[in-house]
Amino acid sequence: MLEKIRQTAAYISGKTKIRPHVGIILGSGLGGLVREIEISDSLDYHDIPNFPVSTVKGHSGKMIFGNLGGKQVVALQGRFHYYEGYSMQEVTFPIRVFRELGVKRLILSNASGGMNPGYQIGDVVIIHDHVNLMPSNPLIGKNYDELGPRFPDMSEPYDPVMIETAAKIADSLGYRTHRGVYAAVSGPCFETPAEYRYIRSIGADIVGMSTVPEVIAARHGNTPCFAISIVTDLGGFEKVQKVSHEEVLKVAVAAESKMTAIIRELIRTLK
Ligand code: HPA
Repeated sequence: MLEKIRQTAAYISGKTKIRPHVGIILGSGLGGLVREIEISDSLDYHDIPNFPVSTVKGHSGKMIFGNLGGKQVVALQGRFHYYEGYSMQEVTFPIRVFRELGVKRLILSNASGGMNPGYQIGDVVIIHDHVNLMPSNPLIGKNYDELGPRFPDMSEPYDPVMIETAAKIADSLGYRTHRGVYAAVSGPCFETPAEYRYIRSIGADIVGMSTVPEVIAARHGNTPCFAISIVTDLGGFEKVQKVSHEEVLKVAVAAESKMTAIIRELIRTLK
């Protein structure tokens, strides 16, 4: 594993002059942030040694290098989901590579189902905590002390300073945002009405099929994380509406300009 991480990072470093400070992972229908990046280089996943290849619609599978908000960044347009059949180690491999490339902060976006009755479709949620309901964890198996401790602390999964800063930026731009708890499920089914109610009852505001494995791997390596979600459908109320992947993508695309502005301005404030 360590050898693979180093090999992949060495390959990437030979393909770009960018030395990224910030790593970004963009969720379903949320790849538009890439248009804000002054792109220097871009690599297809299938050209990167040891990299899994993304298969889901809305995920184009590119690693992009450039400048955003005055910082050198690397962005993944298209992430790896557990439901695609990747192992947790594969899902989080890019996070390990980011750290090896020198990335000091991780920023993630996703689409989610809203269960908090105060949320509406298209709302932006700044994630401040999570519940891992996936049937696994990327740290299961041999621990590599070079990557992080056997039993990592998770008392601060999302960086409080980035949360505060992003909330202020959103306020100043006049965007409606929430701070919420994200529950991660394996998918690929959307939830049944009883499942939405259950997930709400354990303290989650939104539910989705990503992000948490990446955050666990990043926190293992002590990398501060920031995650932001677009509510693309609602569950857990009187009646659960039908939800489709197409609808999720449509709402994500419509709401993403807000999220993009928040992330760009947040990156500008980073040291
Ligand atoms: N459930 C799980 N994942 C999701 C949802 C949902 O309702 N919406 C977008 N991703």
